[in-house]
Amino acid sequence: MSVTFKNNIFYLNTPNTSYMIGIYEGKLPVHLYYGKKISGEISMERALPVKAARGLIPNLPELQEASNAVLPAEYASFGSCDFREPAICLCYPDGSRISKFEYAGYSITKGKPKLKGLPSAYVEDEEEADTLEITLLDKLKAMELTLVYTVYRHCDIITKSVRLKNHSEDKCCIERILSSSFDMANDNYDLITLNGDWCRERHISRTPVFHGYSGVDSKRGASSHQHNPFFCLAGKNTDEKAGDAYGFSLVYSGNFKAGVEVCEVNTIRAMIGINDFGFRWVLTPGEEFYAPEVLLTFSSEGIGEMSRNLNRFIRTRICRGRYRDERRPVLLNNWEATYFDFDEEKIISIAKKAKEAGVELLVLDDGWFGKRNDDTSSLGDWEVNKEKLPNGIDGLAKKVNEEGLKFGLWFEPEMVSPDSDLYRKHPDWCIHTNGRERSLSRNQLILDLSREDVCSFIIDTLSNHLNSANIEYIKWDMNRYMSEAGSALLEPERSGEFYHRYMLGLYHILDTLMSSFPNVLFEGCASGGGRFDPGMLCYFPQIWTSDDSDAIERLSIQYGTSLVYPVSSMGAHVSIVPNHQVHRVCPIKTRGDIAMMGAFGYELDLNALSEEEFEIVKKQIEFSKKYSSIIHKSDLYRLKSPFDSNFAAFEFVSEDRRDVFMLFANILGEPNTILHQVKLQGLEDDAFYKDEETGEVYTGSFLKNIGLFFDNGNGDFRTVFVKLTRQ
Ligand code: DGJ
Repeated sequence: MSVTFKNNIFYLNTPNTSYMIGIYEGKLPVHLYYGKKISGEISMERALPVKAARGLIPNLPELQEASNAVLPAEYASFGSCDFREPAICLCYPDGSRISKFEYAGYSITKGKPKLKGLPSAYVEDEEEADTLEITLLDKLKAMELTLVYTVYRHCDIITKSVRLKNHSEDKCCIERILSSSFDMANDNYDLITLNGDWCRERHISRTPVFHGYSGVDSKRGASSHQHNPFFCLAGKNTDEKAGDAYGFSLVYSGNFKAGVEVCEVNTIRAMIGINDFGFRWVLTPGEEFYAPEVLLTFSSEGIGEMSRNLNRFIRTRICRGRYRDERRPVLLNNWEATYFDFDEEKIISIAKKAKEAGVELLVLDDGWFGKRNDDTSSLGDWEVNKEKLPNGIDGLAKKVNEEGLKFGLWFEPEMVSPDSDLYRKHPDWCIHTNGRERSLSRNQLILDLSREDVCSFIIDTLSNHLNSANIEYIKWDMNRYMSEAGSALLEPERSGEFYHRYMLGLYHILDTLMSSFPNVLFEGCASGGGRFDPGMLCYFPQIWTSDDSDAIERLSIQYGTSLVYPVSSMGAHVSIVPNHQVHRVCPIKTRGDIAMMGAFGYELDLNALSEEEFEIVKKQIEFSKKYSSIIHKSDLYRLKSPFDSNFAAFEFVSEDRRDVFMLFANILGEPNTILHQVKLQGLEDDAFYKDEETGEVYTGSFLKNIGLFFDNGNGDFRTVFVKLTRQ
């Protein structure tokens, strides 16, 4: 059992970590510990860093010697003496906002229950995990709060979520309900978050935590390019290889909030959940609310191990379906090759050349429907444009299949163009607020997925297409954030439910489509990586990482993304040069090597390459077919960061520890060069590893301590890809 309860303390143990919750004086859930595994039992008194408050602090009358203003809370409610950021805030019809939840009982069961309406991690076998539910009651208001913890037995992951049930005869408004919040002693931590913008997603930022609140959020209706629903608390000296690192990753794709508060007694409250800004949920009598799930991990072996914990878990217990394990087809997407300017003939000529190179899947991107020859119209009118594709999607799919390739198609199902038949027919189907002008972004509006009729329309449209042609892949795009957010059907008092209801609608659509079409590979996209989160990865095993397809830019984007997400989830394509986003000219080898650390593909017309380049492409595809599955399932070691040097280096060690791949990237060439040393990780000291290209054999300890040397005087944007095999 990974969960036990003794003397008012819950012990949650994974292979290398312990999480402990005490029930203080039999009433108050307090956070006692989370970190490296502690054997045996502990004493609640000794584990509390601070108990009593001094100075002007009111105190709960029933607490004799302690104050909940400073006690480390496991899930703090608003209104009774705890002045830090609450995890939950409820408003009652009498206007009061005071909650007081007290311990009422617990249950421990095998396996993991599903989260109603929301994506979540899963188990394949009940023996993989145990679930602890702690029930808390606010007796005065007849509200029941359940804290849910699933503790995995074979990996260092604990999932947490909460649910709230209204047992009263009145409605209650949820103004905040975080998924996880607990206090721990501040061991001089840094806060690490992933931030950016369109075309430069998930760059790493690291700052010391300071007194007061700091954190990131999204109010955009999607997890966003700007911030990611993740944070890490790392010790001052923690680096990739050593030191404590806590990872928090929210399984949610909408507005979120993630951050920490350092309080006057130097405890840190670590919080993550749905953003309470713009959120207010009316809970009617008998109704239950489920907050999304959060993944928690801890590593005492640095940020690298924290990432490997999250990467492995997301790949195997968040991602699902056929393509979780199956090798992803090498794809070619026509977007950067043609944009809107294509017809059947052009697509087939791209497909023929792609086939010759060994590509397995041809993806037709935006522009195949309505009168969409640019981005000003037709979203919502998902009828094929016969001028471009006289034989329809079915006809094109057949021709592509005849060339020996699978066929995939782009959709942006959540959107509508004002210049579309759909909008003219249903102007109230889009997100809007009466009286306010509807702001456009990329000339489009968002369909209101809080409405059942709109969800059904999307399910039917996609299903009809999937049933009428041999479409084996769908790129699900989403290219704008929400403004004037509101729905024609929501009563005014429920307007604060809008953003979350949208997400529930989206998850319902995706659930339905995934179960009806289990063999279709879905790739997510949101102007690149604007919705790259574990929520989406429950449906899409891969997501287009960024619209920035430049290989050198991708070093930073993919490096940052890998803090949380496995390389198998990162769509990565070789594109044409000069690159369309930054106009950089990188050699085809560099572009291929860097894309190889992702779900590999091409985004160009291979007819445009020189013969020499085409030969290199053929070899890249061969390599990808042979090794991509192994790389995707490998442990990633980040050896050099492009954020703080002129280099980047990544190492992949296969599950069976036999295959080792190392990518070294030299960003700018340097004059009067020295050899640059890169030490490998994750190898066995006494084992022998053979460099497949040079035939040289090294011991693990050599590679770890002396390493490999690379020349950085070979010009700009150079990569070396080393394949070692354990002997
Ligand atoms: C944004 C995506 O990120 C691109 O890859 C492409 O699909 C365009 N949308 C098409 O409009």
